[in-house]
Order: sequence, then C-alpha cells, then structure tokens
Amino acid sequence: MPKITILPHAELCPQGAVIEAEQGTSICDALHNHDIDIDSACGGVCACTTCHVVVREGFKSLNEIEEDEEDMLDRAWGLQPFSRLSCQAILQEADVTVEIPKYSINLAKEGHQ
Ligand code: FES
Repeated sequence: MPKITILPHAELCPQGAVIEAEQGTSICDALHNHDIDIDSACGGVCACTTCHVVVREGFKSLNEIEEDEEDMLDRAWGLQPFSRLSCQAILQEADVTVEIPKYSINLAKEGHQ
C-alpha cells in the first residue's frame, strides 16, 4: 500500500503523520480515514478548492490532472506548481508527501489572511 507522508500543519496535523492507503484512494479520503480533517466543502466533487494540497514528493505518480481540476485549482489559496485538489488526486503505487497549505479559501474568507 502506498504511504502518504503529511508534513506538519498547525491545526490539522501538528506533528505531521505517515499513513497508508489503498491504491485508488483519493488523498482526501485517505486523510479523512485517518482523522486528518482537511476541508472538503463540496464533498469531493471538484467544485471548491478547500481540499488543496501541495504534493512535495510523488507528484508524477498520481493520476493526471483533468481540466476541471486545473480550472478550480486556479482559485486555490497559495497555488504552487505541484498543487492538487486532494479529492481528485488518486494514489497509485508510489508513496507521496503532501503539505496542507496554511489556509484554504474558507478560512481566508473568515479573515485569517
Ligand atoms: Fe471540493 Fe475537493 S473537496 S474540490
């Protein structure tokens, strides 16, 4: 099973974590299954950007980004070259390392910017 290394995030995962998930699972589902409560305001249907992660290792091992995801990602807070919407990023065989950005659009709207 591929491993996901999650870099420390002050609120969601202060110590960082390493979890395992079945191949074919989205990163978002894998995080939720391990009580790492990343936002997923649209329920994982590529209609928000709150599940945004930056893939620090293993980016190329994930499924390809589709146009819908690219369009949504353009609106994400802190977009980077290796950004993905975690609900659309499907694990393959390789391990990955992800960083959960400090803010999502939801929090930014609440005045944390
Ligand atoms: Fe909304 Fe991923 S949960 S795009």
